Amino acid sequence: MTTPRSLQDHARALDARPLLRLFAEEPDRFARLSFRWDDWLVDLSKERIVPETLGLLLDHARAVGLEGWIAALFAGERVNLSEQRAALHTALRQQDDAPVRVDGRDVLPDIRAVQARMQKLADSVRAGGRLGATGKPIRSVINIGIGGSDLGPLLVCDALGFPDRAQPVDVGFVSNVDPEHIARALAPRDPATTLFIVTSKTFTTQETLANADAARAWLRAALGSAADIGKHFLGVTANTAGAKAYGIAEDDVYPMWDWVGGRYSLWSAVGAAIAIRLGWSGFADLLRGAASADRHFRTTSLEQNLPVILGAVGFFAARVQGRCDRVVVPYAQALLRLPAYLQQLVLESNGKSVTRDGQRVQGATALALWGEAGTNGQHAFFQWLHQGTREAAVEFIVPLRAAHPIASQQTLLVANAIAQAQALLVGRSAQEVRAESGGSALDDALVAARVCPGNRASTMIMMPSLDAYRLGQLLALYEHRTFVEATLFGINPFDQFGVELGKTLAKPIIAAIGDGVALPADADASTAGLVEHARAVLTPH
Ligand code: F6P
Repeated sequence: MTTPRSLQDHARALDARPLLRLFAEEPDRFARLSFRWDDWLVDLSKERIVPETLGLLLDHARAVGLEGWIAALFAGERVNLSEQRAALHTALRQQDDAPVRVDGRDVLPDIRAVQARMQKLADSVRAGGRLGATGKPIRSVINIGIGGSDLGPLLVCDALGFPDRAQPVDVGFVSNVDPEHIARALAPRDPATTLFIVTSKTFTTQETLANADAARAWLRAALGSAADIGKHFLGVTANTAGAKAYGIAEDDVYPMWDWVGGRYSLWSAVGAAIAIRLGWSGFADLLRGAASADRHFRTTSLEQNLPVILGAVGFFAARVQGRCDRVVVPYAQALLRLPAYLQQLVLESNGKSVTRDGQRVQGATALALWGEAGTNGQHAFFQWLHQGTREAAVEFIVPLRAAHPIASQQTLLVANAIAQAQALLVGRSAQEVRAESGGSALDDALVAARVCPGNRASTMIMMPSLDAYRLGQLLALYEHRTFVEATLFGINPFDQFGVELGKTLAKPIIAAIGDGVALPADADASTAGLVEHARAVLTPH
């Protein structure tokens, strides 16, 4: 799918117009390029666009059938063409019971049944009703999972877990196969009162099963081989048979379905850790927030539709303006894990180079995505943003109302976000540097070192506050925006075949390092050399 020439010509013409000149030429620029929804404000006026840009982008969106794709997504059509699956994360947070059919079968009754079980589980664990093998109530829950079976629940628990400090149950997360991760999680906990949720859509993921084995060994060593350690395990999976074969009782397996993608699954039983950490009402608020964003996405005209506008401008940055990086800076310590969560959501979805019908894409797809909480990022990579040699797509996310009654610090936080966006825009000229020097003569090199070029674009997303409802909205907005970008790129955001190759190639390497099995004869010399070195160092003498 080619990008219309009109967009490319338009972008070239805009490149020649400094952002500050656009502000000077259009007094109503902020009003025309900022968008409001449900107390949210998304300001695109500092982006290198004009209102006409959005018109061209939405023309392109209509030409590629975006409205039809949105309808197909919500209707449970097989929008994941390569795997012939629906992508129905929206059904998981639907607030009414209007039927949503996959292959003619309404999935809502199954969703409600699992939600009822999740609620019972959360209530019971929090009330001390779930007992371990020694009869003591469960007091710690550790979710073992990776990727989509980890990052969503981890982000939500990390973001919202703090204010409710007097928690009856503490919740931890283990994802990395590095034994350090599970060792750190186990060390402070009591085996008699710890419950593991093994979360894996496929129930075949190497890291997750290795960590589950380690958890099992820890329980056995502490509680004795005769103990009923099944009481310490739950499974969340679309592979119930796999979980049962692993020894998890059927009543303790919480199903998910193949029409939920891993990175879109926190709304399903994958969110069990969230329901336990926040209580069912917190999880229900998260779903309600996401559902409100779904309604907005589904029913609002493209011109006022936040995920559509953000996605269109994201597409423009990557495909037309030639940016390489998207830097996401949440001005909220509670959203520290948001960049990691978005890396999976956006890059596993849109890190593709062929179109839905198998053609090579013409131009870029997803930008590299990274970030850090503000204000910490200001003391790290913001130097690069202000004075580095290339312009990134910068995104500020600012929850306005504080979760803590330290109002003056919240003012500092919000003010810093606004100031950084302003600094990227206005920069500091040589003339200003000299004027600020207070009359002392600066040599040219020092002036040059202090100049900030400015004219650097950014997006500002202000959310009213950070609670379960608003976080649900934020995550759903990003899911939909990712879908919009994929549609404009012409790619399928719901498969991830790229991650399979490494998993396959790891198998002979594991056997070579662990058991001395020879690598296949056609292994490249570098890989063979690295394996030999690792084996020599790891093998006890
Ligand atoms: O990283 C690849 C991936 O398949 C992700 O898409 C998924 O979220 C993760 O692995 C974990 O998979 P599972 O939930 O099947 O263990």
